[in-house]
Amino acid sequence: MSVTSPPAIAGGTPIRVQPLPYGRHQIDEADIAAVVAALRSGTLTGGALIADFEHALAARCKVEHAVAVANGSVALDLAVLALGIGPGDEVITTPLTFVATANAVLRTGAVPVFADVGEDRCLDPDSVARAVTPRTKAVITVDYSGLPSDVAALKAALPRPLPVIADSAHSLGASLDGRPVGSLADITTLSFHPVKQITTGEGGACLTSDADIADRIRKLRNHGMTSTADERTGGLWKYDVTMLGDNHRMTAIQAALGISQLRRLEGVVAERSEIADRYDAILIDLPGIGLPPRPAGRRSAWHIYPIEIDPGAFGCERDSVIDALRAEGIEATLHYPAVHLLTLYRERGGVPRTVPQAEQLCDRLVTLPLYPAMTVSDQDDVVLALQRIHVWAAGGAVRS
Ligand SMILES: Cc1ncc(COP(=O)(O)O)c(C=O)c1O
Repeated sequence: MSVTSPPAIAGGTPIRVQPLPYGRHQIDEADIAAVVAALRSGTLTGGALIADFEHALAARCKVEHAVAVANGSVALDLAVLALGIGPGDEVITTPLTFVATANAVLRTGAVPVFADVGEDRCLDPDSVARAVTPRTKAVITVDYSGLPSDVAALKAALPRPLPVIADSAHSLGASLDGRPVGSLADITTLSFHPVKQITTGEGGACLTSDADIADRIRKLRNHGMTSTADERTGGLWKYDVTMLGDNHRMTAIQAALGISQLRRLEGVVAERSEIADRYDAILIDLPGIGLPPRPAGRRSAWHIYPIEIDPGAFGCERDSVIDALRAEGIEATLHYPAVHLLTLYRERGGVPRTVPQAEQLCDRLVTLPLYPAMTVSDQDDVVLALQRIHVWAAGGAVRS
């Protein structure tokens, strides 16, 4: 199959027989043994494995406290609640994110205010500064694609001090000037969904070096109770409830998987980086493709590899590129539709701002497959597909 053969969307033979996903988890024998040992341990929830996972995460991320929770969305909910955010408050965030980021604000009764992104596709400090009002209570930045947000630059641009939450669902293992994600913001939230750098099936965590915030998050994770089931042993069976929490706990089985996965984090990030480097090296010569940004001093954890399509130079619009890649058996996708333009946010939430950079990206981004077990041959399929689609589209075959 050559670059000039017709793409599958125009009736050609699809490049892939087996579809190539955009992301996929990796489970090895050590993970399986860890989960089996947890199942045999007699403790399925609470207990030492949760504490061990939290200590390992905190040590890796150079932060005082880690609190493991049910998923990354809950981690965001608890981070916002721990800051006391509620009705009448505003929280500034980015439209270039998964909807869970803004939902955490909306759920408290506060208003998400959308600021624009910069060249790095993370929140632009000047745009954030312009969005601050007397009602602003916090900023939630998102480490888009795995690149850590420059939290220090964000804080320096603010007209008054505000807590910054980093939604680092994409960036476990990344660093800025040698400082790991987790140590950069007031609260950092992580996700361990299977497409992320490490997985616990579903799972997430809040990281902070503030003991009071960590304590509030621990209580919120456990119905607002003053003690956990582990602590209520012997004579200590009484408890009180001091805040409105819920059951947001992770199981010991998940924690066992997390501990095992975390041991391989460095290798996973290295493999992801290698795939991203190879994409960069090949795609740089293809017209109309903008490569992911690589700001100096920042090491990405490469959760995803989103390219930016320039429709004029490439030959067709972004939607056609995704449709054509999918016809080839390559599960390219979009991260993300702009949150402020989703129906829920148009109808009831989110202060509309001028966010031209984010809107342009949301119209032009295409996420290409990237995960550690992906082979060079898989990657070559993606590149060949893009080349074929470009040759066909630039030849005038598609208008939109
Ligand atoms: C930026 C971002 N924030 C939050 C979440 C939510 O994480 P979870 O799926 O673990 O709830 C995700 C999930 O992909 C995400 O990409």
